[in-house]
Amino acid sequence: MAESILSLKEVHTYIVQHHILQGVTLDVTAGRPTVFLGRNGAGKSSTLRAIIGLNPVTSGEIHLAGRPIQGRKPYEIARLGVGFVAEDRAVFYNLSVEENMRLSMFEENEQAWNRLETVLDLFPDLKRLWRINAGLLSGGQKQMLAIARAFVNDHRILLIDEPSKGLAPIVVDQVGESLLQIKDKTTIILVEQNFHLASLVGTDYFILDDGRVVHQGLMEDLVEDQALKQKYLGIG
Ligand SMILES: Nc1ncnc2c1ncn2[C@@H]1O[C@H](COP(=O)(O)OP(=O)(O)OP(=O)(O)O)[C@@H](O)[C@H]1O
Ligand SMILES: [Mg+2]
Repeated sequence: MAESILSLKEVHTYIVQHHILQGVTLDVTAGRPTVFLGRNGAGKSSTLRAIIGLNPVTSGEIHLAGRPIQGRKPYEIARLGVGFVAEDRAVFYNLSVEENMRLSMFEENEQAWNRLETVLDLFPDLKRLWRINAGLLSGGQKQMLAIARAFVNDHRILLIDEPSKGLAPIVVDQVGESLLQIKDKTTIILVEQNFHLASLVGTDYFILDDGRVVHQGLMEDLVEDQALKQKYLGIG
């Protein structure tokens, strides 16, 4: 049987009195890029935040490669192998690209430097902009820096929240290219409203609605399923 790298079982979260995740259950298979879809407010970002430990899980279980991680602090979960690129693609504006990259490296040993080399081969723009302050980068370049920062550590899974948001179509294509380059090197879990990008990157999908998973399957089947896309994604 294929190895489950991440599993959520009946995960509930609250923000103050609001019941946000209402029993999210899902399994991500190691090596299969997986996309979370659903309309605005469906609970996609909240699910990522629960996995990384930013939103406390009030009940349910989250396992990373068979090991329970719910209730741990975000930095502990990161160290266990969960990378996270937040929706706001946080980079340090007053620091150079180089400093941004080095800050995110868990340790600066030979392995880490080799990995950095690989990252720079994947993102040649960043190499060119190495000494530039990140605040001066374009939206697309900031997004690439945010992904590269997460990718520089050897994560088991990499959570990426809406990398195409606010970017021009041609830049979305570049971000898509970067994702295609890294999708065989770590297990990507992508939240993405751009269905074309989602279908290029993802092999498996989960559709969330009202804080629950309402559908799951193979991306190639969803691409053909006009009714399902219309119902939950408003496209067809
Ligand atoms: N701090 C908060 N206080 C109250 N409700 C919140 C808070 N943060 C999120 N929510 C609610 O939780 C629900 C899920 O939000 P979430 O951000 O996970 O949605 P999403 O699927 O990522 O949507 P989008 O596509 O718009 O990013 C929404 O109804 C949202 O209003
Ligand atoms: Mg979101």
